[in-house]
Amino acid sequence: MRDLRGKIALITGAASGIGLGIARACVDAGMRVVMTDVREPILREAASALRASGADVLATQLDVSDRKAWASAAERICAEVGEVDLLCSNAGVNFVGATHEATYEDWDFALGVNVGGAINAVRTFVPRMVARKIRGHVVITSSVSGLFTNGGAGVYVTSKFALVGLAESLRADLRRHEIGVSVVCPGPVKSQLFESTAAVRPSRLKETGSVPIVPAGTARESTPIYITAPTGEETGRRVIEGVRRNAFYIMTHPEIRPVLEARSAALLAALPDEPVERGRVDASAGLLDASLYK
Ligand SMILES: NC(=O)c1ccc[n+]([C@@H]2O[C@H](COP(=O)([O-])OP(=O)(O)OC[C@H]3O[C@@H](n4cnc5c(N)ncnc54)[C@H](O)[C@@H]3O)[C@@H](O)[C@H]2O)c1
Repeated sequence: MRDLRGKIALITGAASGIGLGIARACVDAGMRVVMTDVREPILREAASALRASGADVLATQLDVSDRKAWASAAERICAEVGEVDLLCSNAGVNFVGATHEATYEDWDFALGVNVGGAINAVRTFVPRMVARKIRGHVVITSSVSGLFTNGGAGVYVTSKFALVGLAESLRADLRRHEIGVSVVCPGPVKSQLFESTAAVRPSRLKETGSVPIVPAGTARESTPIYITAPTGEETGRRVIEGVRRNAFYIMTHPEIRPVLEARSAALLAALPDEPVERGRVDASAGLLDASLYK
């Protein structure tokens, strides 16, 4: 999707951080923007700030895990603004804690927002995009946590791996339409992820899944990981640059290379070192098509 001017973007989780950065970059590209988020007052403030700089922005509250709300939001957005050309499924919640200690409710909550939210976005808007035969694009925000892990965030990691699978499948399925798909896999970005997760997590889940990552009395803003992280705006600009060139994976942190290499090497090393009959290779030729990744 090269020419973005005048096109309509819908972004979930747009009140702060990466979603707000994507909204800003869309505005800078001349797009009309629909910003959605579950945190209404913060969403409205963010949208007003963008409007003050002359942007064409609609802000509407949407809990991405609520399927009925998606249906009515779609009707409202299409009636008030128009059909969506760029769909950015970005809303997410964090999880910090040992995988085996997460409760069923922790799993249901985080997967409901992170994975369920993206499924709802795709289910609501992609068939409409296909039916219109447009040159559209879908962006799904995963994370480096969708590519590798070193423990301590199993629920989050599971959800983010699922989003990479969702995005790759969608990219393959939409190849014959003129709709591109990108999956964003950022490393640490300056955002409100810990604060927003604390705000939206049901209070009955207080005791699990939100272990503080910095010692009591330490401001997260003073940690090296936060200080050195890119901003939501910088990340948003990368996303829109990736949309323009239909990038499959949109990355932010080249320093993850050794980990990606180690993981890829581990996967390849695990393949049985044994001959495979030609007939077996031919029988699964369709499954072995690697063209999506080239
Ligand atoms: N900040 C990072 O370091 C980082 C790194 C990799 C990936 N991500 C991902 O980026 C995305 C954006 O997060 P961020 O870091 O900008 O944090 P953020 O808190 O600034 O933005 C996330 C937004 O999602 C919203 N949200 C939460 N639950 C929602 C729901 N049910 N419905 C609608 N909106 C909801 C929050 O209100 C918040 O505004 C998330 O998917 C996150 O997992 C963040």
